[in-house]
Amino acid sequence: MSPSAAETVRPLSVAMREGSTAEHDAAEQSPFVSELLGGRINGQGYADYLLRLRMVYGALEDTVRARRDDPLVAAVYDPALERLTAIDADLEHWAPGVAREVESPAAQAYHDRITSAFWGGAVVAHHYTRYLGDLSGGQVVGKVLDRTFGLGGAGLAFYEFPMRPKPYKDSYRARLDGLPLDAGEIDRAVDEVKVAFGLNQALFDELADNLPAYRR
Ligand code: HEM
Repeated sequence: MSPSAAETVRPLSVAMREGSTAEHDAAEQSPFVSELLGGRINGQGYADYLLRLRMVYGALEDTVRARRDDPLVAAVYDPALERLTAIDADLEHWAPGVAREVESPAAQAYHDRITSAFWGGAVVAHHYTRYLGDLSGGQVVGKVLDRTFGLGGAGLAFYEFPMRPKPYKDSYRARLDGLPLDAGEIDRAVDEVKVAFGLNQALFDELADNLPAYRR
């Protein structure tokens, strides 16, 4: 007897993780990220990265807040995750007095993709890609920066969350898996996660164009 459709549907959290493994590995190994992880990016490079993230999180957090009554978005909505205030605080450390606006086609494209997401599942895909990343590899980046620059935690608000990452990620995945999505919708959400990784990759590629100026 063949299994029923319900039995063959992969949980969303598994589909998202497995569906983006190749993209994740590529992002991790991209030149800007590997230099960052190696402690070889200077303050200007990190500030330029934060300025781009500011545009992305501005879009993500406005969109998620505006759409929080959508049942899909409501399942992941959590103001405790929001990073925009932390990014602004960190920019005061890394680039005091510098204009917050940046000319970045990659950040603009990422911003526009998020703000034009029509389906709640696509908003969830963007939410997953950034915040689960921040609660995972992001924590490693924060530690590298702290050590490299001898910061004693200063300028690293972006990596400080009020929750413990591991249990939070587990409960987040359970919330994803509780969403009432069929197999086709799960595929659509995974496709949007891949798009989100591609937009992150483009952002890292844009920064990598400036690597000679960013090496410390
Ligand atoms: C800086 C280099 C990176 C490192 C060292 C890194 C490392 C990791 C590790 C170790 C995990 C697994 C954590 C766990 O199972 O709880 C993880 C998960 C994850 N990372 Fe990264 N990562 C990096 C970059 C990125 C980037 C650029 C993104 C996307 C913007 C990203 C998004 C994610 C996501 C969404 C997950 C959750 C996967 C899941 O569903 O369990 N990571 N990362």
